[in-house]
Order: sequence, then structure tokens, then C-alpha cells
Amino acid sequence: MKVLHIVPQPISMTLQPDTFQFTAETALVAGTGAEEVTALAHLQLEQAGLDLPLGEEGAQGKVIFELIPDLNLPGSEGYHLSITPEEIRIRAREAAGLFYGLQSLRQMVLASQEDFRLPCVEIEDYPRFRWRGAMLDVSRHFMPKSFVMKFIDLLALHKLNTFHWHLTDDQGWRIEIKRYPRLTEVGSRRKETIIGRPSWTDPAEDRFDGIPHGGFYTQEEIREVVEYAHQRFVNIVPEIEMPGHSTAAIAAYPELGNTGRPVEVATRWGIFEDIFNVEESTFRFLQNVLDEVMDLFPSPFIHIGGDEVPKQQWRESPRVQQRMRELGISSEEELQSYFVRRMDAFLFARGRHLIGWDEILEGGLAPGAAVMSWRGEAGGIAAAQAGHEVVMAPNTCTYLDYYQGQPEREPLAIGGFIPLEKVYAYEPIPAEIPPDKAHLILGAQAQLWTEYMPTPEHVEYMAFPRLCALSEVVWSRPEQKNFEQFMERLRTHVSRLERLGVNYRKLED
Ligand code: ACM
Repeated sequence: MKVLHIVPQPISMTLQPDTFQFTAETALVAGTGAEEVTALAHLQLEQAGLDLPLGEEGAQGKVIFELIPDLNLPGSEGYHLSITPEEIRIRAREAAGLFYGLQSLRQMVLASQEDFRLPCVEIEDYPRFRWRGAMLDVSRHFMPKSFVMKFIDLLALHKLNTFHWHLTDDQGWRIEIKRYPRLTEVGSRRKETIIGRPSWTDPAEDRFDGIPHGGFYTQEEIREVVEYAHQRFVNIVPEIEMPGHSTAAIAAYPELGNTGRPVEVATRWGIFEDIFNVEESTFRFLQNVLDEVMDLFPSPFIHIGGDEVPKQQWRESPRVQQRMRELGISSEEELQSYFVRRMDAFLFARGRHLIGWDEILEGGLAPGAAVMSWRGEAGGIAAAQAGHEVVMAPNTCTYLDYYQGQPEREPLAIGGFIPLEKVYAYEPIPAEIPPDKAHLILGAQAQLWTEYMPTPEHVEYMAFPRLCALSEVVWSRPEQKNFEQFMERLRTHVSRLERLGVNYRKLED
């Protein structure tokens, strides 16, 4: 039964004889506390071709959503989905579970062709990890709000619950901060963009398109996206990069930098020397920014970047060296650690947790910080061994900006090679982690850095179907994994992506 080719693979499915037939009278019925999910069911099933009336408990031929507080399922996101000839019943302990039951049903309807007939089945399902995510970089190329929402809906379709929004970087600041309007007036625009990859040997060889690039989200737009994500049980983790990858902010406010020289929003790709200084006024600036960010995003985690920080300017700055002496800090690595610790304490005092890329381990990890392990798994292993929470995002398996096929047959990408099989085979808990620390691995996520993805269609091409594989890595059980069987399901699943207008990369025969 192809409609049951659900991605990610449910924990257990028992096929029954017989079928359920949707008709124009089939009603959607909300049990107590299930009203919001039921309203969303109406919307999502309409998108899949079924315009169902909202009905009463007694309705014939119904789809019912029920919260059952003592339902026996692990975690808070699990669900039971039961399809009999008479009704479809989705039960869960919490609304998130009802939502995931709806996603399974939505997938079935999307694959049911025109007849809207579903096989009778009993499904019991719940996720393996609690952080199931994807990161989207909107700095290198700005992505319109409508696409961000479409992307979030696609995450939810795959039962992913975390959208990491990379909002600031050298090439553009994309979030309105009311207190510092120049961040977007100046920092959201660059005068042009490099064509192709930067030269390895001589920047003078780089060529540029001469076309200004810009864009940002107003706070009102961000609130709209956060609400849209919330309805789909997706938490948005905002990332504000510091102390490196901050050229756009320094272009807007040069006093945040170390040299006093004016800088421009970056127009090429790479790692840039301009980083924040360590003046008290700069800490205040960043904390004021984070205050506005926390106002917009309810996320328990706030990402402060922390990756790829060249320390040359700190070494050369008399002001920074003086501050280090005053603070009794003897190395620039330790100074970065001091920087991150201050942000950690600031966020912690406001009930949030800091998360940063694995460089935040260097010079000593801040006490409450969680680590996002990207340079392979070593950072994640060290952090978990030291008792810190970890999200796995290794560039060996989860960087969807890397090539997915032979480079000569693919659009230009940053490099690397991470085909579908490699994403699928990824195991987020490294063998080095002792069993009593395994719970510290919160989960894993995919990365979409957009240097070489100028449009939403290109992002979709790089994301799908590899993100489908990632969804199985973080949702399903490792003992269930079987790549050939996944490919069989994927052949049905891409028809759903097609119906949702996703520019996925076609499967090879
Ligand atoms: C990263 O890829 N610089 C986190």
C-alpha cells in the first residue's frame, strides 16, 4: 500500500483488511483540547485536496482528534492513529502528538491519488530524539518570509520540530532591531556578490555581479513566522553570530569593531578578520540585541554562533590587550571563552540557554552552554563527556550545502560530497559516548548554508530529499533503518513533495 510509505518511518504499523473512504460528508471532529490541531487539519487536508467540514462527535465517517492524558506512549510527541472502515481516530497525550498523527494522515492523503481511499491500519509512533532540525542561512542569500514559512511547513511534514534560523553573518544582518536601526539600514545590504567561488590564491581575481543584494525581516514579520511555526510544533532557534561572522554589524556600527576603520558588508564568502571588540559598551549592545531577540522568540535555546573567530585583531589591538591584562586573561582563546561566558550568564538569568558552534569549547566552556558539533563529532563528544547538552550537526553527514551527486552534473556547491545514503546512515550518538551520557545528545540537524543557493528553489533542491533521510535519522529507531526500504518509500514520498510544489532533486533510477 503505497500511501503507507510514510517518512519518517513510524515505529509500528499493523495493516488491517478493508479501507476507509473519504467523502464530501466526512467530518473533522475535535475532542476536548484538540480544537487548534483540528483547525490546522482542515487547512492541511484542504491543501491535499480534501475540503472537510468540521463536525460533531456523532458524525458518520469522521476523523477525530482526541487528547488522552494517560495514553501509554513514551515522551510527549507520540500518537496512535487508527483507521477503520468507519472512522479515523488520532489519539495522543499532548497536542504535539495529535499534530504528528495529522502529519502521517496528511502524507497518506497526499499519496492517495484522486480516490481518497486509505487502507485500514493501526499506527503507534513516537520520536527518538527531541531536537530534530534544520538550519537555514538567510544572510548569504536573503530568503523571503513566504519561503521561510513553506520551509517550516515542510519540516513539520517530516516531523522535524526545530528550525535554526541563521539571521546574521558577514554578508547581511536580517533581523530588525528597533534600538539599532542601522543594523538593517546598513547591515542588511551589500553592494554586490561574488560570482562563483573566491580565489584560493589572489582576491584580486574574484569577480562580482555588480547587483546589490539585501533584505531583512521586520519584527512584525518575525512574530508572524514564530506563530506559524508554533502552530506546527516547530521551535525557532534564532542565531545572532558573535564575536566573529559579524562584519555586517560592524559595517553598521564601526565602534563595535577593533580597528576604527570603516568596513563594508561583505561581498565574498569566507572567514573575515573583523570581529566584535570586548568593550563594555559592546557587551551592552549585544545584550540589548538579545533582549529584543528573546522578546520575539520564545525558544529555550538562543544561538550565539561562536564559530570561526580569527583572533588577529584582538592580538593587535592595544585596547583588547589592555582589557585582557585587567581581566587576568592570558590568551585570545580564553578571551573568547570569557565573551561566551558573559553571554551564557546573561541568557541564563533570563531563563534561556546558550547554544553555540563547537569552537565555544576552546578556552573553556561556559557552565550552562550547549554545543552544536559541526567540525565532525569531536566537539560534541567532549561536551557530552563534560556533562553538556549537545546537538549533532557534523559537516561529515549533515551539511546539505555539500554536493549530493557528481560535481560535474550538479549546480555549483561549496564542495564536499554527502549523498542521500550518507545522510541516511548517520547515527547521532557516537560510540565514544558512555551510556550514562547518551541522553545529553539532544538530537541532530541538517545545515543549509546559502553561499551557493541564491534562490528558494535552489535551497529546496539541496534540502530534498536529503532532509527526508535526516528525518528518519532523528525520528525512527536505528534498528529499523534499511536504506533500500527507505528508497522504496521515498519513491512514493517524492510525489507528495511534487504536490506541495517542492523543487526536490529527482531520484536516480
Ligand atoms: C560553520 O559551518 N561555520 C558552523
